[in-house]
Amino acid sequence: MRLTVLVPGGSGQLGRDLAALASPAVEVVAPGSAELDVTLTGQVLASVGALAERAREAGSAPVVVNAAAYTAVDAAETDEERAFAVNADGPRVLAAACAARRVPLIHVSTDYVFPGDASQPYEPSDELGPRSAYGRTKAAGEDAVLGSGASSWVVRTAWLYGRSGSNFVKTMARLESSQKTLSVVDDQIGGPTWTADLAAGLLELASRVAAGDGPERRILHCTNAGAVSWCGFARAIFTHLGADPERVRPCTTAEFPRPAARPAYSVLSPASWKEAWLTPMRPWEEALDAYFAAE
Ligand SMILES: NC(=O)c1ccc[n+]([C@@H]2O[C@H](COP(=O)([O-])OP(=O)(O)OC[C@H]3O[C@@H](n4cnc5c(N)ncnc54)[C@H](OP(=O)(O)O)[C@@H]3O)[C@@H](O)[C@H]2O)c1
Repeated sequence: MRLTVLVPGGSGQLGRDLAALASPAVEVVAPGSAELDVTLTGQVLASVGALAERAREAGSAPVVVNAAAYTAVDAAETDEERAFAVNADGPRVLAAACAARRVPLIHVSTDYVFPGDASQPYEPSDELGPRSAYGRTKAAGEDAVLGSGASSWVVRTAWLYGRSGSNFVKTMARLESSQKTLSVVDDQIGGPTWTADLAAGLLELASRVAAGDGPERRILHCTNAGAVSWCGFARAIFTHLGADPERVRPCTTAEFPRPAARPAYSVLSPASWKEAWLTPMRPWEEALDAYFAAE
C-alpha cells in the first residue's frame, strides 16, 4: 500500500532521517517548524487536512509521524511553559486533527518519562515518574495523544544521534579534537539509538498502521538493543574516531551537575516491539558502526 506520511518536526535529526526514507511507495512531507508550528492550531488543522486530501488524490494511505518536540532538556527546567506547549499542547491538537480526519498518528516520546530507579529494562506499562520538566511535558504529550480518540501509537525511544543536529556523538567528536582527556558520567545507563534505525522502524510501524494492522498495544519501546553508560558510549565513539578510549574518564552524576535531573537507568525493553512483530532493532554497537561507516 502506498503511504503519504506527514512528519511535523521535519528539520530535526529524526525528521530528516524519516524524510530520507521517501521512495516511490512512500511519500514523505516533512515541514520544519517555520512551515508547521505544532503550537499553532490553524497550521496543524490545515496540514492534517492537506495530508488527508493529498493522500485521497494519490490513492495512498495517510499517516502522521510526529517528530516535533522541545528537546532542550536543561533549558526546559526554566522554560517549562514553552516545552509544555510544544510537547503536550501541540500533540493534543495534532491528535484531535488526526481523529477528525481519521488519520492515524504515531507520536514519538522518550525514556525520560521514567524515574530511572529500575534495575531491569522498562516495559511500556511500567509506572511513569519523570524527574525533569522535559520528561513531565513529554508524559503529558503521551496522555494527550492516547486520550484523543485518534487511532494513535506512542513510540518511546532514547539517546538519539543522527547525522544532522547536535547530539552526544557530535559533541564527543568535537571534544576529542579539542581536549586531551574528558570526564563523562558513568552512572547513567541507557540505550543509544541511531535516528536512521529508528526512522526505519517508525516507517515499518506506519505501513502496518496504514494497512489496518497496527499493534494492539498503544505504547511501544524502540531503541537500538543493549545498554551502556554515557562514559562507555563515549569510549566507543572515541574508538571509532581512532582515538584512545582511555582519554575518556568515568565520573559520577554528582560530579557533573546539570540543571535537569536525568534517570540513572532508563533502558527500554525491546519486548513490546518484538511482540508487535516489528523488525527487532540491532545492537547499539552495530548501529554506531553503521553510522560511522555512512559518514
Ligand atoms: N534527542 C534525543 O536524545 C531523544 C531521546 C528520546 C526521545 N526523543 C524524542 O524523539 C523525537 C525527535 O527528537 P530529535 O532528537 O529528532 O529532536 P530535534 O533534533 O531537536 O528535532 C526536534 C524538531 O522539532 C521542531 N520543533 C520545535 N518546536 C516546534 C514547534 N512548535 N512546531 C513544530 N516543530 C517544532 C524543531 O524545529 P526547530 O529546530 O525549527 O525548532 C526540530 O526540528 C522527539 O519527540 C524527542 O522528544 C529524543
